[in-house]
Amino acid sequence: MKKSLLICCLLLLQAGLVLHAQSRYALIPKPTRLTEQKGSFIIPRDVDIIIQSTNAQLLPIARLLADQLAIATGYKPSVTAGKSGKGILFVSAKGAQFGDEGYKLTVSPRQIVITAEQPKGFFYGVQTLMQLMPPAVFSPARVEGVTWEVPACTIEDQPRYGYRGGMLDVGRHYMPIDFIKKFIDLLALHKMNTFHWHLTEDQGWRIEIKKYPLLTKIGSIRKQSMVGRYGDNKYDGKPYGGFYTQDEVRDIVKYAQSKYVTVIPEIEMPGHSAGVLAAYPQFGSNPDKIVDVVSKWGVMDDVLFPREETFTFLEDVLTEVMDLFPSQYIHIGGDECPKTQWKQSRFCQNLMKEKGLKDEHELQSYFIQRIDKFVTSKGRRIIGWDEILEGGLSPNATVMSWRGVAGGIAAARQDHDVIMTPTTYCYLDYYQVDKSMQPTVPIAIGGYLPLEKVYSFDPSVTDSLTTAQAKHVLGVQANLWTEYVLTPEYAEYMLFPRLIAVAETGWTPQASRNVDDFKTRLETHKKRLDYLKVNYFGAPINGDFPYQMPKETASK
Ligand code: ACM
Repeated sequence: MKKSLLICCLLLLQAGLVLHAQSRYALIPKPTRLTEQKGSFIIPRDVDIIIQSTNAQLLPIARLLADQLAIATGYKPSVTAGKSGKGILFVSAKGAQFGDEGYKLTVSPRQIVITAEQPKGFFYGVQTLMQLMPPAVFSPARVEGVTWEVPACTIEDQPRYGYRGGMLDVGRHYMPIDFIKKFIDLLALHKMNTFHWHLTEDQGWRIEIKKYPLLTKIGSIRKQSMVGRYGDNKYDGKPYGGFYTQDEVRDIVKYAQSKYVTVIPEIEMPGHSAGVLAAYPQFGSNPDKIVDVVSKWGVMDDVLFPREETFTFLEDVLTEVMDLFPSQYIHIGGDECPKTQWKQSRFCQNLMKEKGLKDEHELQSYFIQRIDKFVTSKGRRIIGWDEILEGGLSPNATVMSWRGVAGGIAAARQDHDVIMTPTTYCYLDYYQVDKSMQPTVPIAIGGYLPLEKVYSFDPSVTDSLTTAQAKHVLGVQANLWTEYVLTPEYAEYMLFPRLIAVAETGWTPQASRNVDDFKTRLETHKKRLDYLKVNYFGAPINGDFPYQMPKETASK
């Protein structure tokens, strides 16, 4: 009896120690290598952040850390350039062991050292360091009574994939600039490096193009929105609009750069283009056809036509877009383009004959290849949704595999780069609760995609690809389509915590990933999200949390 009691106590003690360690080092995404050590660094009131490097780009990163520390602690951290010191050190590494994004972080009771080669590595080292501190470090105001303690450890960290993205659709619902910046902050917090900005849709064109002012004057406004289930065919009778001026876009791109996030713009073509056609019907089936910015959801028959005038228009638009966005990639959509109008058009059928194209899929491929050639001639590269495989893949295209992973596998086998973002794991517009609970939460587009399922995705599809082909899988992306997502609060509710599971999928080696361990770390991480006022699924929204779900989206 006594012996079993002792064993029980020992097991409980061990479990307690494991839990303590898990909350002491509740890092998300989980680093590549973490060695726990005894003791802690206690942040002193006059903490120094010392940069031992000639790289001027490290200064704003150190400032970000100093500013947040100052807000939460009330301390006065200084940032200095110097050879030695106690405090928090940034040390530039020689050689090539860390890569573009990797870093080493050593915390001892005496000092903290972040070592990296590139600024991005330092930035990610800082993200990890902040997560080692008490969650209150993320507070927007001073928090009293906290011991600002950093547990000792050595971390060597670098990402599994070079591309870790989050897509936000602002076509269905415009999202305010403050929220776009918060989304960028949250990507960066989770070491995601790409914001895919879905800017144009049937339901609204959202980016100012100087040469074609009607795109925003007419194309950004729809008369109303569909509400409730699609089959109900009900509308709310209220107009929806909004767009981003070029100055606002520049500001957002610059802001994202300060958080080491690349912004990839998406300009949809040839489908999902009713916003264009409402403003400039001459680029569609018939210049006299009146096309409205669309008020319902789904896939529309009105699409761009492969006329010379359309290509001139698209090249003009893309020229302004490339001026605004320095990203290597420009996303050109390519998904869900019905061929109904092309089939019925004498112009399209003649063009197919003239160019020797055997069907309308090859006509779409011709369309995309023209755009590929133009974008490539400007030193950039196109990405398209996986429909761009149909009718033949354009020579320089990268494929975003969304209808499962099959498109990604096919593209990688053709030696094309791939981003994995299958609906079954990465579509965060799907419900987080099962069918029985869906009537109790705000309406979503359908499907059931819980956190655990998102986490279970392995983008490498190694069963289907050779080692060389698998190198074409550049990474993973989460998508939020916003048909039913009217507000930033609702966007956060859909995005979090599932986006964090995608972040860990993109960063952490597959062999180190474990969903139970992830969920334990997530519990501590939610305290950080509370300080950051993120309205994640399960957040205390009905308590004193400032956000309420929009009532009109509640399903019946
Ligand atoms: C898509 O979901 N239509 C890419």
